[in-house]
Amino acid sequence: MASTIHDDAVLEIEDFSVDYGWGEGAVRAVNHVNLSVRRSRVLGVAGESGSGKSTLVYAVTRLLRSPGVIAGGRARLSYDDPRTPDAPRRHLDLVTATSGELRDIRWSQVSIVLQSALNALNPVLRIGREFDEVLKTHRPTMSRVQRRERARELLSLVGLNDDRLARFPHELSGGQRQRIMIALALALDPQLVIMDEPTTALDVVTQREIVNELANLRARFGFAMIFITHDLSLLVELADDIAVMYAGNVVEWAPAHDLYHAPRHPYTLGLLNSSPPLSGPRRELVGIAGSPPDLSQPVSGCSFRARCAFALDRCSREAPELRVIDESGRKVACWLQESVTEVPAPLRRGVRRDDAASVSPEAVAR
Ligand SMILES: Nc1ncnc2c1ncn2[C@@H]1O[C@H](COP(=O)(O)OP(=O)(O)OP(=O)(O)O)[C@@H](O)[C@H]1O
Ligand SMILES: [Mg+2]
Repeated sequence: MASTIHDDAVLEIEDFSVDYGWGEGAVRAVNHVNLSVRRSRVLGVAGESGSGKSTLVYAVTRLLRSPGVIAGGRARLSYDDPRTPDAPRRHLDLVTATSGELRDIRWSQVSIVLQSALNALNPVLRIGREFDEVLKTHRPTMSRVQRRERARELLSLVGLNDDRLARFPHELSGGQRQRIMIALALALDPQLVIMDEPTTALDVVTQREIVNELANLRARFGFAMIFITHDLSLLVELADDIAVMYAGNVVEWAPAHDLYHAPRHPYTLGLLNSSPPLSGPRRELVGIAGSPPDLSQPVSGCSFRARCAFALDRCSREAPELRVIDESGRKVACWLQESVTEVPAPLRRGVRRDDAASVSPEAVAR
């Protein structure tokens, strides 16, 4: 596929695939994914457990461990090098980057808060030392006093008092530790921050607080972000665009508001029905029937077919590709979008969020 570099793209993921294992026993966990993150924008990635969200960002940042292997594709990072501010923007394919090049851009251009971040802090180091180590390694000209001052400033950005610098991780709550991880991720003003379910282990109130703080920090500092979560309601408050993943494939991509209020892929609709509404009356949550496919078994046709209330004959024969379906640039991988006669009316025009719960195969006039 021909590649183009968009001026405002920070990261362009192209035709990117990841396997676990090799040869006959390989399991395809990320399948020909194309996504881009633009400057100062937030890309939300949603999908059930096992859909490949973490695998994608681990692989893109080259943190993937064996038996995970990048099976193909590119992940082009574009950035301004602070050491040569007048030079043109630099481009680095993270897939082929050397370990030295990766070391240069980690933390300073791309930082990542991992899903297991609650355990990511070194238990025997006081919080102040964690900040000191990161700053000392990447900003060797900073003095000890300057590093301490920067650590204080970072803590206040995430709403923590600087007395936390003297504490050990076990002396902090889960929410405080997660705020520390976010502060560390922002320490060197990276252009792209990747958050893999940073709030999943926290209570709902703390989740909302952290998401609001992230939105404010992004507005203030202008970094781009990839934010991964199961919870589409949380995502719509933060993300500009949302990609929905299922069984290693991106099945829908759209501006966040459009996707939330009018999903066009039956899987997106299912995810919305299984997450609590943002506002308005409580309604019964309806999970998606069945479970994600076993990736080690080959599937013919659409991988969501077996769980899809709207499946057509064609869905068992051919896998739909992700295609642009409207002028907003929305992309959907679903045969329902191809056929004006067969597509159920709600998914053709988009289902209004509030009506989504009532859409069932019986309710849909075909
Ligand atoms: N080390 C591994 N070996 C083999 N398969 C793996 C390994 N790690 C992950 N997988 C498989 O890859 C797929 C994607 O997993 P991944 O952790 O990326 O999903 P996820 O979308 O991040 O899920 P969650 O929401 O639970 O974090 C899953 O089917 C999983 O079983
Ligand atoms: Mg994950």
